[in-house]
Amino acid sequence: MNEQPYNYLGGNDCHETTNPFLRFHELTEGEVQNTIEKVFSNSQWVAAFKTDTHHGIKHGDQVRQSCYKLVDNLTDTEQEILSREGTEISSQKPQEHALTAIGVAAIFHDCGRFDGEGKMSHEQQNIHQITSTERALIFCEKLGISKISDFVAGAIMSHDFQSERITPHLRPPKTIIGKIIQASDQMGWFHPDSVTRTIEYNKQVLGNPFFDSSVTLQERLAWTSGSTSKDALTVMLNQLFGPTTDQRFGIEYARKKVESYRFQLEKNIVGCANSREEAQQVQDIINACRSRK
Ligand SMILES: [Fe+2]
Ligand SMILES: [Fe+2]
Repeated sequence: MNEQPYNYLGGNDCHETTNPFLRFHELTEGEVQNTIEKVFSNSQWVAAFKTDTHHGIKHGDQVRQSCYKLVDNLTDTEQEILSREGTEISSQKPQEHALTAIGVAAIFHDCGRFDGEGKMSHEQQNIHQITSTERALIFCEKLGISKISDFVAGAIMSHDFQSERITPHLRPPKTIIGKIIQASDQMGWFHPDSVTRTIEYNKQVLGNPFFDSSVTLQERLAWTSGSTSKDALTVMLNQLFGPTTDQRFGIEYARKKVESYRFQLEKNIVGCANSREEAQQVQDIINACRSRK
């Protein structure tokens, strides 16, 4: 494998500590996209990644921006751990190395949802964290920032962990870099605006309506992320009542934030109903789920 860093931004200086990609957090979404296109020239998955509105680069960049907001709001202890991890990557420019690891992991975490042909097969969804990791590591190697690879890999592999019961095939992140990626991505599930994205994804990709009255409460409660559902409401109930433990939100600020989202999230879910009668049924289901919690 070629370890010689290549400067995709066009400058001449690619020494380890002056590599422009150690300022990954300062690149715009457009610059990140251009770099990915150069590194993975002619790859079909990149075309899908560029345009997909659910799990494409737009989503990756939103997670990246939200990660940096979390970094700005870390507790002193969390900040200390992040500094330690940065130093573990490199004693020179530890902060830049840590922020670059966060940025690369955030951008790439869901790119594996698109297979080599740019398609989103069901099988690919279940192994997307592995494919995402492989692509992120190629990216790091080509840009001469392989030092961050272990942290990037650990973070991407754990980003979808919710709980032992819901995601038994995944492990929680061991590093604070991983916790930042996971918390930032998982916060998107709880955000009140997430209902639009969930409804569109269910409709366009899965062909599911917002609400199917034939789905029983038991079916809704038994649903886990990665399994099929008959309507978007089932997924939203998991968003509303999903675990908010520190294994899923290992950053204190993120835990507080998701709790503050709940009220408006519930209002927005009920607001998606097509009629007053349907709204009442949806509210009854939410109340029933709450009493089972
Ligand atoms: Fe994911
Ligand atoms: Fe994601």
